[in-house]
Amino acid sequence: MSRLNLAILISGRGSNMDSLLRATTEDAYPAKPVLVLSNKADAPGLDAARAFGIEALAVSHKQYESRESFERAMHEALEAHKIDVIALAGFMRVLTPWFVKRWSGRMINIHPSLLPAYPGLNTHARALEAGDSEAGCTVHWVSEGVDEGDIIGQARVPVKAGDTPDTLAARVLKAEHRLYPEALADACRLIIARQAS
Ligand code: GRF
Repeated sequence: MSRLNLAILISGRGSNMDSLLRATTEDAYPAKPVLVLSNKADAPGLDAARAFGIEALAVSHKQYESRESFERAMHEALEAHKIDVIALAGFMRVLTPWFVKRWSGRMINIHPSLLPAYPGLNTHARALEAGDSEAGCTVHWVSEGVDEGDIIGQARVPVKAGDTPDTLAARVLKAEHRLYPEALADACRLIIARQAS
Protein backbone atom coordinates (compact mmCIF):
# COMPACT_ATOMS: atom_id res chain seq x y z
CA MET A 1 0.00 0.00 0.00
CA SER A 2 1.38 3.41 -0.89
CA ARG A 3 1.97 5.90 1.90
CA LEU A 4 2.44 9.60 1.27
CA ASN A 5 5.35 11.51 2.77
CA LEU A 6 3.81 13.79 5.39
CA ALA A 7 5.08 17.11 6.77
CA ILE A 8 3.38 18.68 9.77
CA LEU A 9 3.71 22.45 10.24
CA ILE A 10 3.36 23.80 13.77
CA SER A 11 3.96 26.95 15.80
CA GLY A 12 3.43 25.78 19.38
CA ARG A 13 2.63 22.88 21.69
CA GLY A 14 1.79 20.44 18.93
CA SER A 15 -0.95 18.34 20.50
CA ASN A 16 -2.63 17.86 17.11
CA MET A 17 0.77 16.95 15.64
CA ASP A 18 1.06 14.34 18.37
CA SER A 19 -2.35 12.84 17.50
CA LEU A 20 -1.28 12.62 13.83
CA LEU A 21 2.09 11.05 14.66
CA ARG A 22 0.37 8.41 16.80
CA ALA A 23 -2.10 7.57 14.04
CA THR A 24 0.70 7.11 11.49
CA THR A 25 2.23 4.29 13.56
CA GLU A 26 -0.53 2.04 12.14
CA ASP A 27 0.84 0.20 9.09
CA ALA A 28 -2.38 0.80 7.18
CA TYR A 29 -2.27 4.56 7.66
CA PRO A 30 -1.89 6.20 4.21
CA ALA A 31 0.87 8.65 5.24
CA LYS A 32 4.20 8.40 6.98
CA PRO A 33 5.63 11.39 8.84
CA VAL A 34 8.92 12.61 7.42
CA LEU A 35 9.31 16.16 8.70
CA VAL A 36 7.95 18.56 11.31
CA LEU A 37 8.56 22.25 10.62
CA SER A 38 7.97 25.16 12.98
CA ASN A 39 8.23 28.88 12.34
CA LYS A 40 9.22 29.22 16.02
CA ALA A 41 12.48 27.71 17.27
CA ASP A 42 11.09 27.35 20.82
CA ALA A 43 7.89 25.52 19.86
CA PRO A 44 7.49 22.67 22.39
CA GLY A 45 6.17 20.48 19.57
CA LEU A 46 9.65 20.33 17.98
CA ASP A 47 11.09 18.35 20.88
CA ALA A 48 7.98 16.19 21.03
CA ALA A 49 8.46 15.32 17.34
CA ARG A 50 12.15 14.50 17.88
CA ALA A 51 11.21 12.28 20.83
CA PHE A 52 8.97 10.48 18.36
CA GLY A 53 11.94 9.96 16.05
CA ILE A 54 10.84 12.46 13.42
CA GLU A 55 13.17 15.10 11.96
CA ALA A 56 12.06 18.48 13.29
CA LEU A 57 13.31 21.82 11.96
CA ALA A 58 12.70 25.44 12.85
CA VAL A 59 12.47 27.89 9.96
CA SER A 60 12.07 31.15 11.84
CA HIS A 61 9.98 33.68 9.91
CA LYS A 62 11.83 36.45 11.75
CA GLN A 63 15.03 35.63 9.88
CA TYR A 64 13.51 36.45 6.49
CA GLU A 65 12.79 39.85 5.07
CA SER A 66 9.49 38.90 3.44
CA ARG A 67 6.75 36.34 3.81
CA GLU A 68 7.67 34.88 0.42
CA SER A 69 11.35 34.44 1.25
CA PHE A 70 10.34 32.68 4.48
CA GLU A 71 8.00 30.43 2.55
CA ARG A 72 10.63 29.71 -0.12
CA ALA A 73 12.91 28.45 2.66
CA MET A 74 10.12 26.20 3.97
CA HIS A 75 9.32 25.07 0.44
CA GLU A 76 12.96 24.07 -0.15
CA ALA A 77 13.00 21.99 3.05
CA LEU A 78 9.72 20.33 2.02
CA GLU A 79 11.02 19.54 -1.46
CA ALA A 80 14.33 18.24 -0.07
CA HIS A 81 12.31 15.77 2.04
CA LYS A 82 10.12 14.76 -0.94
CA ILE A 83 6.95 15.77 0.88
CA ASP A 84 3.64 14.76 -0.72
CA VAL A 85 1.16 16.20 1.76
CA ILE A 86 1.23 18.95 4.40
CA ALA A 87 -0.89 19.05 7.56
CA LEU A 88 -1.03 22.45 9.25
CA ALA A 89 -1.46 21.84 12.98
CA GLY A 90 -1.58 25.08 14.92
CA PHE A 91 0.64 26.81 12.35
CA MET A 92 0.06 30.48 13.07
CA ARG A 93 1.32 32.19 9.90
CA VAL A 94 -0.99 33.25 7.08
CA LEU A 95 0.37 31.71 3.88
CA THR A 96 0.82 33.70 0.66
CA PRO A 97 -0.95 32.75 -2.58
CA TRP A 98 2.49 31.69 -3.89
CA PHE A 99 2.85 28.94 -1.27
CA VAL A 100 -0.83 27.97 -1.32
CA LYS A 101 -0.74 27.49 -5.11
CA ARG A 102 2.43 25.37 -4.88
CA TRP A 103 0.70 22.99 -2.44
CA SER A 104 -2.85 23.24 -3.75
CA GLY A 105 -4.71 19.96 -3.25
CA ARG A 106 -1.91 18.67 -1.04
CA MET A 107 -2.24 20.84 2.10
CA ILE A 108 -4.88 20.67 4.84
CA ASN A 109 -5.57 22.56 8.07
CA ILE A 110 -7.49 22.08 11.30
CA HIS A 111 -9.52 24.97 12.66
CA PRO A 112 -11.28 25.06 16.04
CA SER A 113 -14.78 26.02 14.89
CA LEU A 114 -17.56 24.65 12.75
CA LEU A 115 -16.58 26.52 9.58
CA PRO A 116 -17.85 28.61 7.88
CA ALA A 117 -18.64 29.97 11.36
CA TYR A 118 -15.82 31.82 13.07
CA PRO A 119 -12.83 31.83 10.75
CA GLY A 120 -9.76 33.48 12.28
CA LEU A 121 -8.90 33.80 15.97
CA ASN A 122 -10.79 33.63 19.30
CA THR A 123 -13.28 31.10 17.98
CA HIS A 124 -14.43 29.80 21.37
CA ALA A 125 -15.08 33.24 22.90
CA ARG A 126 -17.05 34.18 19.78
CA ALA A 127 -19.14 30.98 19.94
CA LEU A 128 -19.94 31.66 23.61
CA GLU A 129 -20.79 35.31 22.97
CA ALA A 130 -23.17 34.25 20.22
CA GLY A 131 -24.92 31.85 22.62
CA ASP A 132 -24.28 28.81 20.42
CA SER A 133 -25.42 25.45 21.80
CA GLU A 134 -22.86 23.55 19.75
CA ALA A 135 -19.21 24.06 18.85
CA GLY A 136 -16.59 21.95 17.14
CA CYS A 137 -13.73 21.77 14.70
CA THR A 138 -13.15 21.50 10.97
CA VAL A 139 -10.45 19.99 8.77
CA HIS A 140 -10.31 21.62 5.35
CA TRP A 141 -8.17 21.94 2.25
CA VAL A 142 -6.06 25.09 2.35
CA SER A 143 -7.08 27.70 -0.20
CA GLU A 144 -6.05 31.33 -0.59
CA GLY A 145 -8.76 32.69 1.73
CA VAL A 146 -7.99 32.10 5.42
CA ASP A 147 -10.05 29.15 6.76
CA GLU A 148 -12.11 29.08 3.56
CA GLY A 149 -11.13 25.90 1.70
CA ASP A 150 -13.37 22.91 0.99
CA ILE A 151 -14.30 20.98 4.11
CA ILE A 152 -12.97 17.42 4.57
CA GLY A 153 -14.55 16.68 7.96
CA GLN A 154 -16.08 18.20 11.08
CA ALA A 155 -16.64 17.09 14.68
CA ARG A 156 -19.26 18.60 16.99
CA VAL A 157 -19.30 19.02 20.75
CA PRO A 158 -21.97 20.53 23.04
CA VAL A 159 -21.53 23.92 24.65
CA LYS A 160 -22.28 23.43 28.35
CA ALA A 161 -23.72 25.84 30.93
CA GLY A 162 -20.92 27.74 32.63
CA ASP A 163 -18.42 27.12 29.81
CA THR A 164 -15.56 29.59 29.50
CA PRO A 165 -13.43 29.93 26.36
CA ASP A 166 -10.90 27.65 28.09
CA THR A 167 -13.29 24.86 29.08
CA LEU A 168 -14.86 24.91 25.62
CA ALA A 169 -11.41 24.93 23.97
CA ALA A 170 -10.42 21.84 25.97
CA ARG A 171 -13.58 19.96 24.86
CA VAL A 172 -13.06 20.99 21.23
CA LEU A 173 -9.37 20.04 21.37
CA LYS A 174 -10.27 16.45 22.34
CA ALA A 175 -12.54 16.33 19.31
CA GLU A 176 -9.71 17.76 17.16
CA HIS A 177 -7.44 14.91 18.24
CA ARG A 178 -10.03 12.36 17.08
CA LEU A 179 -11.01 14.17 13.88
CA TYR A 180 -7.63 15.16 12.43
CA PRO A 181 -6.11 11.68 11.93
CA GLU A 182 -9.31 10.46 10.24
CA ALA A 183 -9.59 13.53 8.01
CA LEU A 184 -5.91 13.42 7.04
CA ALA A 185 -6.31 9.76 6.09
CA ASP A 186 -9.34 10.66 3.92
CA ALA A 187 -7.34 13.46 2.25
CA CYS A 188 -4.38 11.14 1.60
CA ARG A 189 -6.62 8.49 0.02
CA LEU A 190 -8.02 11.15 -2.30
CA ILE A 191 -4.53 12.32 -3.27
CA ILE A 192 -3.41 8.71 -3.89
CA ALA A 193 -6.52 8.02 -6.03
CA ARG A 194 -5.87 11.22 -7.99
CA GLN A 195 -2.23 10.22 -8.58
CA ALA A 196 -3.34 6.79 -9.84
CA SER A 197 -5.92 8.10 -12.30
C1 GRF B 1 -5.70 23.96 17.75
O1 GRF B 1 -6.84 24.34 18.45
C2 GRF B 1 -5.91 24.11 16.26
O2 GRF B 1 -7.21 23.85 15.85
C3 GRF B 1 -5.59 25.57 16.06
O3 GRF B 1 -4.51 25.83 16.91
C4 GRF B 1 -4.54 24.91 18.01
C5 GRF B 1 -3.21 24.22 18.02
O4 GRF B 1 -3.05 23.39 19.14
N1 GRF B 1 -5.35 25.84 14.66
P1 GRF B 1 -1.89 22.31 19.18
O5 GRF B 1 -0.57 23.05 18.93
O6 GRF B 1 -2.16 21.31 18.10
O7 GRF B 1 -1.93 21.72 20.56
